[in-house]
Amino acid sequence: MMKYSAIILAAGSGTRTGLDYNKILAKINNKKVIDYSFDFFSNHDKCSEIIIVSSDCDFNYLYDRYEGENVFVIIGGNTRQESVYKGLNKANSDYVLIHDSARPFINSTCVDNLLSNLVETNASTLAVPVTDSVVRSSGNRLGKQLNRNELLAIQTPQGFLRELIVSAHDKAIKAKYIATDDTDLIAKFTDVTPSYVMGDYRSIKLTTRLDIKLLEVIL
Ligand code: CTP
Ligand code: MG
Repeated sequence: MMKYSAIILAAGSGTRTGLDYNKILAKINNKKVIDYSFDFFSNHDKCSEIIIVSSDCDFNYLYDRYEGENVFVIIGGNTRQESVYKGLNKANSDYVLIHDSARPFINSTCVDNLLSNLVETNASTLAVPVTDSVVRSSGNRLGKQLNRNELLAIQTPQGFLRELIVSAHDKAIKAKYIATDDTDLIAKFTDVTPSYVMGDYRSIKLTTRLDIKLLEVIL
């Protein structure tokens, strides 16, 4: 059976929520946002270890709450990419799943599909078709409309062969390239074309206060 290390990203600050603490510690339906991700991976039989990547200010709290057998809490970096890189350096399994703890809704069927696809392709993400029309902006004028049928919104978890994503990160560091997700690094710095499987529209990323209200209904 394939095994993976789960990297749970929690090292942001959640500024767009306007809370005076990190959004991943907000309670939704009486459970902390990060606990939804932690509980999922700690109950998933293919998950061999969990690495929680924390900000400086939440480190003591997260360490006391989670550090244990096969659970490691480490400090992240200034960008999501740096936080991922630190998580990767702690990971031991052949595969890694990288997940934003800001996405507390995780569909286990989607994750199973992701893992099958990952073993076949070495780099795979969950994604959903874009439902809005999307257009370039220039000032207050509309530029070119993008063809919605060719567009996807990328979600997490994303899965990679560990050695492949580590090599992509190493090359990105040398090139001073910063991406917002890891499939972009695979596409730019390796000869593997990342693939995707269908995600779930309920897997929204908690970004604003409105998302907290939406997640109260979804979770
Ligand atoms: N993240 C991280 N390290 C960073 C920045 C972000 O681990 N330096 C994590 C966040 O904790 C989150 C995920 O990456 O789970 C996605 O980032 P985002 O939604 O942008 O969260 P924040 O950066 O915390 O929020 P904001 O951009 O509003 O400040
Ligand atoms: Mg951010």
